[in-house]
Amino acid sequence: MKRYDGQVAVVTGASSGIGRRVALDLAERGAVVIGVARRASLLAALADELQRSSPDSRTVVCDVSDTDQLRSVVAEVERRHGRIDVLVNNAGTYESTPITAPASDSYVRVMATNFLAPVAATQAVMPGMLKRGSGIVVNVSSDSARAPEAREGAYAASKAALSAFTECVASEVGSRGVHVHALYPAWVPTAMGLGDSTTPPPPKLVRRTEAQVSNLLLERMGTTRVDINASRLPLLAVLARTMLPTAYARAMHKFGART
Ligand SMILES: NC(=O)c1ccc[n+]([C@@H]2O[C@H](COP(=O)([O-])OP(=O)(O)OC[C@H]3O[C@@H](n4cnc5c(N)ncnc54)[C@H](OP(=O)(O)O)[C@@H]3O)[C@@H](O)[C@H]2O)c1
Repeated sequence: MKRYDGQVAVVTGASSGIGRRVALDLAERGAVVIGVARRASLLAALADELQRSSPDSRTVVCDVSDTDQLRSVVAEVERRHGRIDVLVNNAGTYESTPITAPASDSYVRVMATNFLAPVAATQAVMPGMLKRGSGIVVNVSSDSARAPEAREGAYAASKAALSAFTECVASEVGSRGVHVHALYPAWVPTAMGLGDSTTPPPPKLVRRTEAQVSNLLLERMGTTRVDINASRLPLLAVLARTMLPTAYARAMHKFGART
């Protein structure tokens, strides 16, 4: 099992779901973890759990969509702990955005949390990581980035932007000791994964638990491979849209009309 002894790790969206599991597992593997999210009561409970295995770990309340606030958190962690070795940009939000719905700020909100926040945090940690010649940044993307479905324009676009950003930065800094990854968690029954529970769960082959995704991430991050895929099945969609574009489009239209 890979260890992270003494490393300083910031995990956003640590109050629940995948981020909570990643924060706890990093602490169990020796890291000093700073868990970030908005819900103070959940963070207080998380801090108690983190400190059982990693006494210097703590949590910070922050709305990551406020990028000034997020940059201040990063700066404060660097001042207090001397550096950030691992940044996991996991905080995410989902809003259904059918094109027929009345105009709203959905796109602005979703892009702010899912795309602009990870960009701001990555920019903030990068000078320190490059100076030390080491560091890990993980951006939690989604298979929606690669196989977008009907009515998820804001979410899919935010994750596609995040994946593209990740790949660009990974190419830029990869030779300088900083590893930048996009994590594709497949489907996990978190609050976001379960959604409003009106849609049936996806096939077993793409279902994962928080623990499985976290374990995969902690074993794989820090290597030269940019993408970390919890399931390979969604990659078939990428293959199908390239090799059989007409059949792929037909299937997606049918699926979009049904759901
Ligand atoms: N579950 C899946 O099937 C699945 C699949 C693909 C990708 N993902 C991605 O995985 C990541 C984690 O999601 P999850 O499934 O674990 O869902 P979740 O349990 O709903 O967790 C979302 C986390 O993001 C935090 N968050 C949301 N908006 C925030 C904001 N403005 N500022 C700070 N924190 C914020 C939430 O904390 P607060 O509400 O306390 O702020 C919460 O901790 C997301 O990026 C999601 O897109 C999930």
